[in-house]
Amino acid sequence: MSIIEKAISRFEKAANSKKVDEVRAERKQSVAIDPENIVSQEREVIQNLKKSPVNSVIPESTNAESRNYIAIDLNRLNQLGIVTPDQGKTQVAEQFRIIKRPLLTKAFIKKNNNLVMITSALAGEGKSFCAVNLALSIASEMDHRVLLIDADVARPTIPSILGFQNKIGLMDILIEDSIDVVDVLMKTSIEKLSLISSGSTHPHATELLASQTMLMLLDELAQRYNDRIVIFDSPPVLLTSEARVLAERMGQIVLVVEAEQTTQQTLKHVINQFGASSDISLIYNKDRTFLNTEYYGYYYS
Ligand SMILES: Nc1ncnc2c1ncn2[C@@H]1O[C@H](COP(=O)(O)OP(=O)(O)OP(=O)(O)O)[C@@H](O)[C@H]1O
Ligand SMILES: [Mg+2]
Repeated sequence: MSIIEKAISRFEKAANSKKVDEVRAERKQSVAIDPENIVSQEREVIQNLKKSPVNSVIPESTNAESRNYIAIDLNRLNQLGIVTPDQGKTQVAEQFRIIKRPLLTKAFIKKNNNLVMITSALAGEGKSFCAVNLALSIASEMDHRVLLIDADVARPTIPSILGFQNKIGLMDILIEDSIDVVDVLMKTSIEKLSLISSGSTHPHATELLASQTMLMLLDELAQRYNDRIVIFDSPPVLLTSEARVLAERMGQIVLVVEAEQTTQQTLKHVINQFGASSDISLIYNKDRTFLNTEYYGYYYS
């Protein structure tokens, strides 16, 4: 157990938490962050959270199989214009094949590079659409497994795209000490695709997503699932603060840019919000001029 975990554990014991030691004992690897700082921040967050009401989405069913498994209707996805593994060569499939290639090439060359955040300047530019397409496109590969995380906790749309009810997820790990990543990870009928939904809603969702606990969780995800690409459907950068904080730990950032909507100036402003060393790629989305069809993207890095 690392120094950080010991500190957190001490605090949790003092708060009469149960089972925390057992659960946290699994979290073997942690990061070099100032432990004093972590402890005080954790304490503050936990104290605030304990006071706040949680709108739990923990399902009524306690059946582990239904709670942790999602059957995805591929026909429905096809109708929504989403790439599916059984689909063969379609225009969208081809475009996401081009989009994913450089991301995959870089994913395992250094620590955390397998964490890929999909974001945009503003709302509605196509983040969730691109996140799901990218995840499914990668899951169609022979060699790669994908974990898709709905990190847009204020406006989660992955459940409606993939056709399931929001379940216990990311927020629940942050809110409830006894809930671990493996408790919320869902397998799907697409063998190489697993999911973590956004989970319960919470009045301090933004602070939680921007907390040190979240940053530690991101490092844990990168290490624990170091054989997978972990894709985060994230909130827009200019309308929320958490996207910028999440970006700190991401190996790769994909900015979705809606054609004829986002100006060059806005885009430069967004890019400046990220650290100079950030690896940023762009998806130019919903462009109608190229293809004489309604939407679709064009990509450059
Ligand atoms: N390339 C595309 N082809 C077809 N439809 C698209 C494409 N990109 C986005 N859309 C559609 O545009 C709408 C907005 O997309 P989406 O929900 O992915 O945006 P978002 O950036 O995630 O929005 P929010 O900021 O609200 O989370 C959806 O109806 C989606 O299906
Ligand atoms: Mg979205």
